[in-house]
Amino acid sequence: MKVVVGSDHAGYELKEQVKTILTEKGHTVIDVGTGSPASVDYPDFGIEAATLVGRGEADRGVLVCGTGIGMSIVANKVKGVRAALIDDLYSAIQSRKHLDANILVLGGRVTGRDLAAEITRVWLDTPFEGGRHSKRLEKIEKYEKDNLK
Ligand code: RB5
Repeated sequence: MKVVVGSDHAGYELKEQVKTILTEKGHTVIDVGTGSPASVDYPDFGIEAATLVGRGEADRGVLVCGTGIGMSIVANKVKGVRAALIDDLYSAIQSRKHLDANILVLGGRVTGRDLAAEITRVWLDTPFEGGRHSKRLEKIEKYEKDNLK
């Protein structure tokens, strides 16, 4: 898969770790930054990454800021994006099985390194179940189509 990653300074270190996992698993990584721990604004990177996913130019995305909340807010404003802020393995699995989440959001100051790595691996590998869940996602898509530019 083509996976876009982005972070602010508070998520920089974890983003770099996520890139290593993605590469090890054979995915193609697009890194929109940031490129160092120097202070930046999460919307600049979240919007760029989410736009690539929303347009279908990347299959999935992983975004990291300090709490993950800022990146979640930003990413979910982009049409076609279903971003899930995840801090446990059950939610990582469900966000794929039931919600077909196309962006994983992690809190670099919240989730420990090893747990974040497991979450990332599980989230990448879990398929969407479809079935009854599809019609729920179609309702979100209809809302977007009718209400968003
Ligand atoms: C940056 O200090 C911090 O506010 C940001 O990374 C994030 O936690 C926002 O949700």
